[in-house]
Amino acid sequence: MSHAAKIEFIPLNSVSAAPAKATGKSKSASALVIFAGEDLNLGKATRALIGDDGAALVKKAAGTAKFKGKNASALDILAPAGLAAERLIVIGVGGGDDAAKSKGKEQDKDKAKPPRDFLSLGGFVVGKLGQSAAATVVFDLPRNPKDASAAAAEFAEGIALRHYKFDLYKTKKKDDESDEPITVSIAVEDAAAAKREAKGREAVADGVILARELVNEPANVLYPEEFAKRAKELEKLGVEVDVLDKAALTKLGMGALLGVGQGSARESRVVVMRWRGDKGKDGKSKPVAFVGKGVTFDTGGISIKGAAGMEDMKGDMAGAACVVGLIHALAARKAKVDAIGAIGLVENMPGSNAQRPGDIVKSLSGQTIEVINTDAEGRLVLADVLWYVQDKYKPQFMIDLATLTGAVMVALGQEYAGLFSNDDALSERLTEAGKETGEKLWRLPLGAAYDKLIDSKFADMKNTGGRHGGSITAAQFLQRFVNGTPWAHLDIAGTGMNAPANDINQSWGSGFGVRLLERLVSDYYEGRATSQKD
Ligand code: BES
Ligand code: MN
Ligand code: ZN
Repeated sequence: MSHAAKIEFIPLNSVSAAPAKATGKSKSASALVIFAGEDLNLGKATRALIGDDGAALVKKAAGTAKFKGKNASALDILAPAGLAAERLIVIGVGGGDDAAKSKGKEQDKDKAKPPRDFLSLGGFVVGKLGQSAAATVVFDLPRNPKDASAAAAEFAEGIALRHYKFDLYKTKKKDDESDEPITVSIAVEDAAAAKREAKGREAVADGVILARELVNEPANVLYPEEFAKRAKELEKLGVEVDVLDKAALTKLGMGALLGVGQGSARESRVVVMRWRGDKGKDGKSKPVAFVGKGVTFDTGGISIKGAAGMEDMKGDMAGAACVVGLIHALAARKAKVDAIGAIGLVENMPGSNAQRPGDIVKSLSGQTIEVINTDAEGRLVLADVLWYVQDKYKPQFMIDLATLTGAVMVALGQEYAGLFSNDDALSERLTEAGKETGEKLWRLPLGAAYDKLIDSKFADMKNTGGRHGGSITAAQFLQRFVNGTPWAHLDIAGTGMNAPANDINQSWGSGFGVRLLERLVSDYYEGRATSQKD
């Protein structure tokens, strides 16, 4: 996180048409950012701030640029006459919540429109700032949101998420790249309230950025032991962190997980994090649990992958990264929940000690597994961690995240993550949280007929189920290790890495799942450790 955005909230009435310049030796221009709706509709405070001359200037520039205030459009006025700012950026917010007029039948449709997405709006504004190191945003829309402080906080979160860039290993900067952190002052009616709201959102953004950073790190830097060290840093936030090393895992009997790691010179680890923001009555709470696949590099093992694109397999720990980012977010905002995060960290390598196709391993559950394909390793890792978590912590539910199958990308592309669950209520809550956060899930089926496909001739089961329904048979495999616990599996192979860029993410590692699960917790499981909301 070489350059985080500096974000502050200031009272609207403290803004003059002259925004503060970036402190120090900034060479970059300062910008004043305002919003305009359809027909160049301005908010009251904005109108008062820029005055008649400013409004005339906007109108004139808009005419030349054919800017009409449409949503997701922008008008950039350099050296605006009469204003002290070096740039005046007008952001179009027409449509959405503040559609100026709705006529006749359209009205109902208009009402049904989702509320404005302030997260994306914050990201969009950062995208328009370019080289401006300092900006003042007049957070005043033609039609203001019901809760302006919450909206401003969300907007700030969007700024932080968009601003993140992974450039740890770039030693030379291009001419058009600045390493100055941007400073954004968000001018709102109630700056103190917005600041309070923003604290929680900042915790979530930090969690997402932490997850992205872990996914982006190369595998020569981030191997199991180093990953465990990074997770251990959560202790600073009051998280209990236990690291199980190879000796401990052997003693426990995690044969499935250890089999995957045995071809690597890097030792395997399991990390269990616990944030006890709710201790329940008499210190007896039933935690919620999150489990992540952390294959720090997946060569495929002896069933080795092709060379093309193999470098992407440094991201095969996106599930584990999400779990660490989530626990960070919950702890940093002091969520009133008892949450466990457990991650299985291994490197899947070929080598003289690597496991072979046909090997039979004994999992922690006691069930035996015939390893048909050493590239179907994620499920072997999760099998032992899932069993461990349900056995030791008796959680309300377990949700695992894993870049588990290429097949899920064939089915859903990069838009939705695959959702599998043995619990309809949990599944619905997850789907809902997905809609709210834009980290979308699509439920796929489980069933006895699929389960049969992983029965083995020689052991209790095998680790692949043939060509058909590859994501489903992988999920069936996991289900054999949840012991009836309410459980959901998120296959994030398409969404956790190599993400298409958007308003709030420009990074290869997306941090997918952190905002989703943080929302699930805050909507349904906070302050109610022993009883679920119905
Ligand atoms: N990590 C991969 C899945 C993956 C592929 C994630 C591409 C992201 C992008 C997983 O370990 C794997 O190799 N799965 C195999 C399973 C098969 C051997 C049954 C796959 O999907 O091909
Ligand atoms: Mn694999
Ligand atoms: Zn893998």
